[in-house]
Amino acid sequence: MTELLERLSSGDEVYKPDNATMSVATVKDYESVYRESVKDPQKFWSDRAKELDWFKPWDKVLDWNYPWAKWFVNGKFNICHNALDRHVKNGLGGKIAFYWVGEQGDKKQITYSQLLTEVRKFSNVLKKLGVGKGDKVTVYMPRIFQQIITLLACARIGAVHSVVYSGFSSGALKERIVAAGSKVIVTADGGFYKGKITELKKIADEIKGECPTVEHVVVVRHANSFTEFTRGDLDWDELMREAKDDCECEVMDSEDPLFILYTSGTTGKPKGVLHVQGGYAVGVYTTVKWVFDMKQEDVFWCTADAGWITGHSYIVYGPLLNGATSVIYEGAPTTPDPGRFWSIIEDLKVTIFYTAPTAIRLLMKSGDKWPAKYNLSSLRLLGTVGEPINPEAWLWYRKVTGEKPIMDTWWQTETGMTMITPMPCVPLKPGSATKPFPGIIADIVDEKGNAVPINKGGYLVIRNPWPSMMRTVYNDPDRYLKYWNTIPNVYMAGDVAHSDKDGYFWIMGRSDDVIKVSGYRLGSAEIESALVSHPSVAESAVIGKPDAVRGEVIKVFVILREGQTPSEELKEALKKHVRTEIGPIAIPSEIEFVTWLPKTRSGKIMRRVLKAKELGLPVGDTSTLED
Ligand code: WT7
Repeated sequence: MTELLERLSSGDEVYKPDNATMSVATVKDYESVYRESVKDPQKFWSDRAKELDWFKPWDKVLDWNYPWAKWFVNGKFNICHNALDRHVKNGLGGKIAFYWVGEQGDKKQITYSQLLTEVRKFSNVLKKLGVGKGDKVTVYMPRIFQQIITLLACARIGAVHSVVYSGFSSGALKERIVAAGSKVIVTADGGFYKGKITELKKIADEIKGECPTVEHVVVVRHANSFTEFTRGDLDWDELMREAKDDCECEVMDSEDPLFILYTSGTTGKPKGVLHVQGGYAVGVYTTVKWVFDMKQEDVFWCTADAGWITGHSYIVYGPLLNGATSVIYEGAPTTPDPGRFWSIIEDLKVTIFYTAPTAIRLLMKSGDKWPAKYNLSSLRLLGTVGEPINPEAWLWYRKVTGEKPIMDTWWQTETGMTMITPMPCVPLKPGSATKPFPGIIADIVDEKGNAVPINKGGYLVIRNPWPSMMRTVYNDPDRYLKYWNTIPNVYMAGDVAHSDKDGYFWIMGRSDDVIKVSGYRLGSAEIESALVSHPSVAESAVIGKPDAVRGEVIKVFVILREGQTPSEELKEALKKHVRTEIGPIAIPSEIEFVTWLPKTRSGKIMRRVLKAKELGLPVGDTSTLED
């Protein structure tokens, strides 16, 4: 095994595409398709866009005023029409859009025409509540049909959704509601995870009074927890009972905003990544079709939550734009036991399975016996996303699922769609996201923008615009500019990577202070500001520490205020505080009380130095370190 792993990480082990499972109607030969696509990316993307319905075609494919992009200029479009109405009109109304599986094993399904009816009704509900084009709606919900219905209803009437992952707590929720200026919150009494109920509505209640723009809170009764309705709260079921099911799609401009999704960056304040109706649709539609070779009879399961970009693009919009049947599962991968994922695959005959490396590593730890219990022969294609996958986990994943090809997709909230990714026709190397998607010119460069030699680490960048790129950071255009002007003339992703002799990309991790815990994106500064808002804390520094299962875990260094003494109780209190301020996903694994932190002469904490010391690595350049 060790010898094999060595060979794999050297990049010499290549898995040739298996022609028996490869039935890509659209792409047979990556190299020639890629060459053509980057000769004329506008032609490539407009050919893809023509496969969708436009109320009015665009005048111009791209208006590129560096670094501001407009795609499908003056095109009139609605993503909800393309995700639902178009398919029902084409006779797919009776097809199952989603299967839902609850953590307790309960099951439901919804067809395209049923989904359309629900979306029309909820669109009317939103309109009645005074929500119109451009208004913001915060969605704080578990993984249930109503979550998806809410997103689609917003898109239908031109409202802008801002989803806050249900693993965030009141502090993070409030910050995101206030930043977006939301008029309405849609939530639920609770959601299930690891056998427990997260009482979402209760969390929302804690901060409702501090969000002046919020006029209404709509609550879905799902977890049967006792929820008190207070002033301004509305019951989803009641509203839906009274709603008419005849709402037409709003005719949107292709550049009209579709959603804001807050994500972590290097400062304490999350960034509101803004995506638009037209270009985003073209990007996610095309990548589902090509990367996952989506066919009518497929059953697609992306295990993410719609609270993250993976869910937006590859649970909701991408699969629906392809008229696919998908699975949503509301629960944890190991509840009630580590066979959960495999049993759902067997039961629903899942053909394409897209999950996170952290989940694979977790299941790998539980042993081969769990996947071996189930019939996984329906699977034909696998995917991973969120963080680098180690070759060992890659090989295990492939082995237990019957040697199916793995699409290791690299992308970001900001990119909207998969950017560096295999397609079923690309030979695979375990641990490599392989090559750029057609139309995308990716490179690895130094800080000046010069390409680095093969096998040498550098910054991962994109050289040209693409339709599903974020258009701005909401209310903070300077932060948008930073992506495009830190290194001249390119989009800097914030990752470090290297390429090998075959032009394959190997993503190594973040180059900034973003931490990936179990694939969740968190910012050091965000956690630090949560910590210093605790009365005992004077200063803090946060680093990501490598972890065999979770990728990284959070380690914090804390300087206490005068008169405070370190104790185990205080550590627990700080963990609890981070939990309320951000959420359970941000709880530190390790807290160390210190009396000093390495800082630059201008007072910035040098997390890099802390990390190197923690890992026993050379600290590197410390010339800016204060004495
Ligand atoms: C960051 C973006 C995009 C969907 C989920 C994450 C890391 C993502 C991979 C991969 C190595 C990956 C990067 C990236 N990342 N996919 N296949 N291999 N790293 O979206 O929360 O915006 O995080 O996730 O560091 O920059 P996100």
